[in-house]
Amino acid sequence: MAENDLMDKIVSLCKRRGFIFQSSEIYGGLAGAWDYGPLGVELKRNVKNAWWQSVVHHRDDVMGLDASILMHPTTWKASGHTDNFIDVLIECKGCNKRLRQDHLKNGKCPQCLATVFSEPRNFNLMLKTSIGAMEDSSSVVYLRPETAQGIFVNFANVVDSMHRKLPFGVAQIGKAFRNEITPGNTTFRTREFEQMEIEYFCRPEDAPAKYEEWINARYQWYLDLGMDKTKLKLRKHEQDELAHYAAGCTDVEYEFPFGLSELEGIANRTDYDLKQHAQFSGKDLQYKDPVTNEKFYPYVIEPSGGCDRATLAFLVDAYHEEIVNDATRVVLRFHPKLAPIKVAVLPLLKKNDGIVDLAKKIKHDLQKDIVCVYDDTAAIGKLYRRQDEVGTMFCVTVDVQSLEDQMVTVRDRDTMKQERVAVAQLKRYLLDKLK
Ligand code: GAP
Repeated sequence: MAENDLMDKIVSLCKRRGFIFQSSEIYGGLAGAWDYGPLGVELKRNVKNAWWQSVVHHRDDVMGLDASILMHPTTWKASGHTDNFIDVLIECKGCNKRLRQDHLKNGKCPQCLATVFSEPRNFNLMLKTSIGAMEDSSSVVYLRPETAQGIFVNFANVVDSMHRKLPFGVAQIGKAFRNEITPGNTTFRTREFEQMEIEYFCRPEDAPAKYEEWINARYQWYLDLGMDKTKLKLRKHEQDELAHYAAGCTDVEYEFPFGLSELEGIANRTDYDLKQHAQFSGKDLQYKDPVTNEKFYPYVIEPSGGCDRATLAFLVDAYHEEIVNDATRVVLRFHPKLAPIKVAVLPLLKKNDGIVDLAKKIKHDLQKDIVCVYDDTAAIGKLYRRQDEVGTMFCVTVDVQSLEDQMVTVRDRDTMKQERVAVAQLKRYLLDKLK
């Protein structure tokens, strides 16, 4: 299948089956903004929960934080975003499209292959708004372009309130905004997105080892959630790609149908951010060793991922087409932790009150512990195909026989094997399988 055809099919499935919709579509949409539908919101929430579990709950050394989107404007002076968070913008004289200069392909416009462009100009990516009743320069604030700075400005609060010794990390999931010149590839590059970031503080001499540890941990997270290893790559940045303060950066990349693209970056940001904020705020942001009383600025390792990019990658990776009984079966082979719906309860005959009542009763009992749906809007073959297409792990079918023997048929999404299971044992059976 041609790569573009594959992406078109996935985007169309996302809309048709309630994963991703264009923002404000009835008004013609808004470039670079997307909405998650009923299944998309479950999937994305599962991605966020899996991340939080892995980096906060399952570790001893990382705590969570939820900072506000609007921050004091000096934050962005200190971080360097006000002066340096720019893309170089050019306009193609062939097709009049605005482009990022670094997106040219061998000096040619990727749209029309023209080679003549307007003078390059710097374009700051931060989105501005204003607060308070007066709209003047003193009321300007920015929608944060990354969640990271919310962690740095709270460094002293976390140290003082949590009494942690180095090394420790602070993790955050939240919205970030960038006025991207060329948003595209659905939710891959958008103007409003969610980040999952960790700032891991350590002694300067421990930073190289912690950097390597985090690269491995973050790469492994995608594999543990079922991502195809042949499509997941690590790319170390060349020296000339690094920010001036960074001692190293490695990207986790995924082979999307539109090319190998960044999911996450793991950087050694040295002590740059804390020192900058100390200088601009006048506050002492050094760490004091509780044993030796030694004071110093910790180094920081920053694994910074995009929640929307990870969600899109898991969607693309899960998409499979196969021929079954001379027909194409589309199935999203999500990892059980990520599947938006775990179980669908389906009555074989929707005109039989006994079957419908039992199916609804089973669903209501299961839903206390398992995300499940009830569906009686089509014949069973069609209902199975619909559930495969959204990656539902198990279908439970209630039939006439079920009324007599209190057994139901459980169909496995991946093997398509069917098993009869006693209603009394059903929840235990499913929970074991979903582990
Ligand atoms: N604090 C470091 C930082 O923000 P970044 O590489 O600019 O680094 C981190 O962003 C991650 O955020 C990226 O790896 C990507 O997954 C996600 N991201 C960045 N810009 C994005 C955009 N316009 N749309 C969707 N995700 C984006």
